[in-house]
Amino acid sequence: MHAHDTVQNPAPASLPMAGQAIAMPATSSVTLACTGEQYPCRHDESLLHGMLRLGRKGIPAGCTNGGCGVCKVHVTCGQVHRIGVISRAHVSVEEEAAGYTLACRTAPDTDVTLDVVGRVRRNVMRSVVGGGNATTSESAR
Ligand code: FES
Repeated sequence: MHAHDTVQNPAPASLPMAGQAIAMPATSSVTLACTGEQYPCRHDESLLHGMLRLGRKGIPAGCTNGGCGVCKVHVTCGQVHRIGVISRAHVSVEEEAAGYTLACRTAPDTDVTLDVVGRVRRNVMRSVVGGGNATTSESAR
């Protein structure tokens, strides 16, 4: 290194300054009307992904791409947005207008209340009521 060379410190381009808030992904609370349980869900993740964090045994992940319909839900309160294509074989235009959607392809914009209506419902109910044993009338079918 020559005497006239200077060493420049790289600018700390993206480090937050003291007292500056670090941006965190927005999160909403999702309430399962059928069990009363709540879980946090980021605005950039699917309602199904958040639901899986509840740790329910037997919640089928299904296809996770809007094609199989096992994760069908009815959003009864709050705002959501689609994060991918959903199969019209499982949610018609009329149903979607009425609040039905597929949890694997939908993310919350606000706090949301939903009713699980797809095949996932049996597993959600079984785990809460029976502690892992099938004791609900729906499960006994
Ligand atoms: S998991 Fe298949 S449609 Fe959601």
